[in-house]
Amino acid sequence: MTVPPAVTIVIFGGGGDLAHRKLLPALYNLHVDRLLPQRIAIVGVGRKDQSDDAYRAFAKDGVSQFSRRPIDEAAWKTFAEAIFFVNVSLEDERAFATLGARLDVVEHERGLTSDRIYYLAIPPALFAPTVKHLARARLVERASNRDQPFARVIVEKPIGRDLESACAINDAIAEVFDERQIYRIDHYLGKETVQNILVLRFANSIFEPLFNEKFIDHVQITVAEEEGVGTRAGYYEQAGALRDMIQNHLLQLLALTAMEPPHSLDANVVRDEKLEVLQSLRPMDATAAETSTVRAQYGGYLKEQGVDPRSRTETFVALRVFVDNWRWAGVPFFLRTGKKLPKRTSEIAIQLKDIPPILFNANSEHRLTPNVLSIRIQPDEGFSIEISSKEPGPHVHIEPVKMDFHYGAEFRSSSPEAYERLLLDVMTGDPTLFMRRDAVEAAWRWVMPILERWSTPREEPIPTYPDGGWGPAEADALIEATGRRWRKL
Ligand code: BG6
Repeated sequence: MTVPPAVTIVIFGGGGDLAHRKLLPALYNLHVDRLLPQRIAIVGVGRKDQSDDAYRAFAKDGVSQFSRRPIDEAAWKTFAEAIFFVNVSLEDERAFATLGARLDVVEHERGLTSDRIYYLAIPPALFAPTVKHLARARLVERASNRDQPFARVIVEKPIGRDLESACAINDAIAEVFDERQIYRIDHYLGKETVQNILVLRFANSIFEPLFNEKFIDHVQITVAEEEGVGTRAGYYEQAGALRDMIQNHLLQLLALTAMEPPHSLDANVVRDEKLEVLQSLRPMDATAAETSTVRAQYGGYLKEQGVDPRSRTETFVALRVFVDNWRWAGVPFFLRTGKKLPKRTSEIAIQLKDIPPILFNANSEHRLTPNVLSIRIQPDEGFSIEISSKEPGPHVHIEPVKMDFHYGAEFRSSSPEAYERLLLDVMTGDPTLFMRRDAVEAAWRWVMPILERWSTPREEPIPTYPDGGWGPAEADALIEATGRRWRKL
């Protein structure tokens, strides 16, 4: 892995939860792995009036709690020297001149070249004013002015809450940054196992010939969380699982599973192929939005702090989706995600067609279990192939068995956090794992009919499911109506 050139990383929302839990620990781990440039400054920007030292203590606290590695005092010392804090109110345009002056001083002291990355770890309502103020304060130079862009911007999700607001955000950012300077994060794309989907498909000859409607019966994509809404009710009440998880993470997993082989690994070629999948999704017309979607809320949701006692926000979604292209014609993709499910587990299961009801599968009382290729995204990273095998002994007794690959056991090292990989990619200027504008908008365009359907005023209550259960009965009915079942995870 190449070490990126000198850089200043400016984190708007530097005092926030994302910086504390994810960004600062990720940067620390990159530092320990010697993947950060020798010359670097990390500048937190926030409302709180605090000193550099106070911010370093905040960063250390985040690293101690959330880093995958414990703190090593010697490594921490050199890392902490690169951390600074600037107090700026983002609505105040004049404060950006102060920010610019402070960045100049920090960069001068640390011998930096003013190559900057601006990380927008802030609420989406602040994206547009922040980039506008950056431009007015002359803190952004267009990519077209140089071979290497001077400034890059990282945009966190959610990018809008519907197609219209997403386009408005994209327009506002495009007024200041070229598309190739913009890195829209979907952190699922930085997960090791998610990156491995393409390797599994296109670096092996065993799987790819099977990935089509001739051999695949259906695909199940599950992203289950054990946690409830926690302290994020303010955001989540406005979002719900469809916006929070399906529009981005699950559709991205689907796109990687279903895409055609790209002709090269060039960022735009890969992203073009993923876009094709999003554009091939069968539109959810009013009938499909009714019959192919399920939403529900966990039993204890209305009692969570910050939740409206009459809230109809969904914490669980299950969908039946079709990719209407030659490869996947007629193959259902079942997607489900929810909070307060029995455990944290995410997998993509590709189930092959039943074998013919002859020979070993002739007994109608005891049909053989179909083969499944299961890609485990987390927490037990790996994949397995479920096949039928004869039990040893004089009789022909066939049982399903599993060939299992575990990352941890095979590679004996902990996988880097998604944010480590993604931050490194922005520093080296590789946008492959980031969302292009057209993909974000295509995903919104596809979910819009469901959002509209769900937002029409209705009398009946939203279905509920017990905390710690696998979702409502309606989700089981969705898949069982097609003669299939959700996998037991
Ligand atoms: C975020 C969602 O994008 O992903 C959260 O906003 C969710 O609601 C989280 O909990 C899940 O991410 P991970 O990496 O823990 O699976």
